[in-house]
Amino acid sequence: MFDEDPETAFRTVSRIDILAYQHEFLAIAADIPGEYWTLQNFLIDLPSKWDLSFALWQKNLPIGYAILSKKSDYQVHLHHLMINRDHRARGWGTRMITEMSDRAEAAGATLLSLKAEKSNVSALRFYNRNGFSFKAEEGDFVILSTSLGSTT
Ligand SMILES: CC(C)(COP(=O)(O)OP(=O)(O)OC[C@H]1O[C@@H](n2cnc3c(N)ncnc32)[C@H](O)[C@@H]1OP(=O)(O)O)[C@@H](O)C(=O)NCCC(=O)NCCS
Repeated sequence: MFDEDPETAFRTVSRIDILAYQHEFLAIAADIPGEYWTLQNFLIDLPSKWDLSFALWQKNLPIGYAILSKKSDYQVHLHHLMINRDHRARGWGTRMITEMSDRAEAAGATLLSLKAEKSNVSALRFYNRNGFSFKAEEGDFVILSTSLGSTT
């Protein structure tokens, strides 16, 4: 079902990685209309951010990223999930959901949440398929969440 590529792997992302590969990190979402993240968004310090966040690296260059932090002892929030357009729809996003759930669970969280634009229909379908459900509405956005550690 998934690409098996020994040269592509997840690795925790550090501030140093962001600074060293800022051009590559910013380019990942370059085709997304309304994308607003600058270097400052990547670098802002948040609780447990540098333990939870990771990138998808191919030949030592980032081709995707998931930026996460702790909202509370039991809740991890996904701030940004992006995959380079050439690598979408190959199953990496699904694998990134598993990776972030494992990391959030290891950090003691029981809930993984995110905010998505209502108009981003394909992302909403992707999150629904990966176990997220509707929690609340915030203007043009919806809050989705999934419980961690359930065996069902
Ligand atoms: C949303 C996003 C992170 C999903 O990652 P992804 O790697 O594309 O996700 P997957 O490949 O696991 O699944 C996505 C699609 O590919 C299909 N797919 C999964 N594995 C596949 C495979 N091996 N071959 C072909 N298609 C596959 C899935 O059925 C799914 O189709 P659908 O959503 O059109 O019904 C990514 O598409 C992305 O970065 N989008 C732009 C940014 C964005 O919207 N981010 C979310 C903001 S909240």
